[in-house]
Formats: sequence, structure tokens, C-alpha cells
Amino acid sequence: MRTLQYIPMKVPLLDLHAQYAPIRDEILAALTRVADSQRFIMGPEIDAFERELEAMLGIRHAIALSSGTDALLLALMALDIGPGDEVVTPTYSFFATAGAVARLGARPVLVDIDPATFNIDPSQAVDAITPRTKAIMPVHLFGQSADLDPLIEVSVRDGIPIVEDAAQAIGATYRSRPIGGIGALGCFSFFPSKNLGAFGDAGLLTTNDDRLAANARLLRTHGMQPKYYHHVVGANFRMDALQAAVLRVKAPHLKRWTEGRRANAARYRTLFRAAGLDGVVTLPAEPADRLHIYNQFVIRTPERDGLKRHLDEQGIGNEIYYPVPFHQQPCFANLGYATGAFPHAERAAAESLAIPIYGELTEAQQEAVVSAIGAFVHRRVGAAR
Ligand SMILES: Cc1ncc(COP(=O)(O)O)c(C=O)c1O
Repeated sequence: MRTLQYIPMKVPLLDLHAQYAPIRDEILAALTRVADSQRFIMGPEIDAFERELEAMLGIRHAIALSSGTDALLLALMALDIGPGDEVVTPTYSFFATAGAVARLGARPVLVDIDPATFNIDPSQAVDAITPRTKAIMPVHLFGQSADLDPLIEVSVRDGIPIVEDAAQAIGATYRSRPIGGIGALGCFSFFPSKNLGAFGDAGLLTTNDDRLAANARLLRTHGMQPKYYHHVVGANFRMDALQAAVLRVKAPHLKRWTEGRRANAARYRTLFRAAGLDGVVTLPAEPADRLHIYNQFVIRTPERDGLKRHLDEQGIGNEIYYPVPFHQQPCFANLGYATGAFPHAERAAAESLAIPIYGELTEAQQEAVVSAIGAFVHRRVGAAR
């Protein structure tokens, strides 16, 4: 065991300035291009962005949207999901996942997670299917694909579409296939903290199905075709041209940024091991058949709340994703799940903590993070003696 030399240093959870500085001129030129064109809604930026994302993701259709939340909502609308329908989804995710189901008057049927990966437990998902199930919605949480093959098997057998909540996982793969194009529909978020982040809210819906794509495109603009003739009740789910222009500059850098995150994850593993902390603190699992893009690097410890307080005091950025699973949220009390219903999710909510992982993080910063965690652990061990 090696105790890292403790060098106090503040480390933010995310430093967007570090990513922005080298591409500032390109971004400002892109924003100026849109300003000079005065074309803010749809138009050439959106068209070009969609074609570029289709090529980058290897998916037939990419539909630019206002947010990841709207991508989920639109995916379910394109599948005509509504009152009386059920959607099977994990209880542990960002609120938008189950929120989109509930907003359409359908019922989120919640299942527990696999504690090793934080992702939906596929066998529980299969068991939760009823004649009312209209979709299965796995989440690729923190940037790692859910275990999809068991879900695909039941999807094919029973004709139940899979909607992938890929909001946190752009560029991740499952058994060498890019996520977002494996199920019927994929939903991405470009919230600024994502690996590919916009300058505000933006999202994307992906599909290889021409009919679903046409339906989603129609619903994106109030079901309108041509102007002022409405076939179905849609909404305004459009991405701003300004966001598309920013994302077009950033997208070519994504692979390199993700490699930076993956290299940082590997370095954390070395540093935690060298400090004698692996096993004391649980590091994220990385099954060999999935490429993790590390939107978050989430560690686990039963002493999470104490560790969080310690890191806050030391100025080390951290965040609890997510403190309360869906089944314990007040707004979902009507679903009738009891506390204790999903023990793995409840334990993850009590034990997990994200630490800085962004691509520009330096080795010295990572050493500061690990040594701060080591100082907490060793203090606890000392106090217990
Ligand atoms: C798993 C998950 N689903 C959906 C969303 C919603 O995306 P947005 O914030 O772009 O609406 C997010 C965003 O944080 C997310 O993490």
C-alpha cells in the first residue's frame, strides 16, 4: 500500500472552460455563421448536423431535438404510448426516464438494477412484462450500455420495442454495436455536462426504422405537413440552429475527449490500487463486452455521506447520482411501490458518489482526488482502532 503524498488542491467535478478554450474561435465562428444567416429554426445547420450524426453514430436516422427529455417523450409518442400502457424501466436513473412515461399517462413499471453496473437487471425486466407492456426502456447509465441481448430476445419474441435511454452514453458500444441504434429508438441528451454538450438544452432521437423516423419527424413539429395542416397532435421538439452549430464544431472532437475520459478512468484504477483503496472503495465495473464512455466515474462506499462531506471540505467536486430512486419519489407514490422493493437501487442511492472524470483532468488533479479519499478512509480506519 502506498499513501499518496497529500497535496491539497481544489478539483472541480467538471471544467467546461478547459474543453472550450482550444475550440473557442471555431465555436464563435459557427455562432456568427448562424447569426449572419438569421436562420434560427430548422434549415441547413440542422440538416447538416443530422447527416453528420447519422454518419458518426452509424444509425440511419438522427432527428435533432430540443432536449434529451423531449427525445424520450417523442420516442414514446412515436410508438403511440398512452393511458393504459406500461413501460418497463429501471427505478434508478435521472427523473426524465420515468417522467416521460408518466407524462403520457402510461405507467412506468419499475425494476431493480444490477448492482455491479447500476443498469437495469434484464431478468427482472423480462419478468415485469405483461400484456399491457408497450415498450422496454433500459438506461445506459453513467455512459455504459445496459445488458441488451436478453431484452432484445424478449423484444423480438413478443414484439415489444426497446427505447434506449442513451442520454449519458453517446459513443458507447454493446458487443461492438453502437448504442442508440440497437433498440427501436435511441434517445440522446446534449445537456452541457454530457460528453458531447451543447450551449444549453438539446437532444437527439435515433432509429434505423424509416416509419418511426417519419412519425417522429412529423410529431417534432406539431404533426404539421404541410404548414398549418395537422395530421396528429405533436409538439415543438425542435433543436435550435445555434445549438446544432455548436455541436457540429464539438462532434469531431468527441472520440478524443472520450479517450481522455477512459484514460483517466484507467489512471484512477492504478491510483486507487496503489493507495490500497480498491476493495475499500468500489470502482465502476467494466464488463469486457461494453465500451464505457465515462460520462460519470461513480464509486461506491457505505461511508458515502461522510466521504462526500470530506470531499466538499477539501474542494473536490463530487455529486450523488441519484439520491432517491423513482419508487421512493413523492410524485410516484401512486405507483404503489414500498421502500425495500428494489434493494439494489436503494443501496446504490445510499452508496454511490461521482468524482471528477472529464477529459482534461490532469494526473496531479487525479492524485489529489485519490489522496483526499485516502485521507478520509485512513482517518476512519484510525478512529476505529
Ligand atoms: C439518463 C438520462 N435520461 C434523460 C435525460 C434528459 O436529458 P435532458 O437533460 O437533455 O433533458 C438525462 C439528462 O441528464 C439523463 O441523464
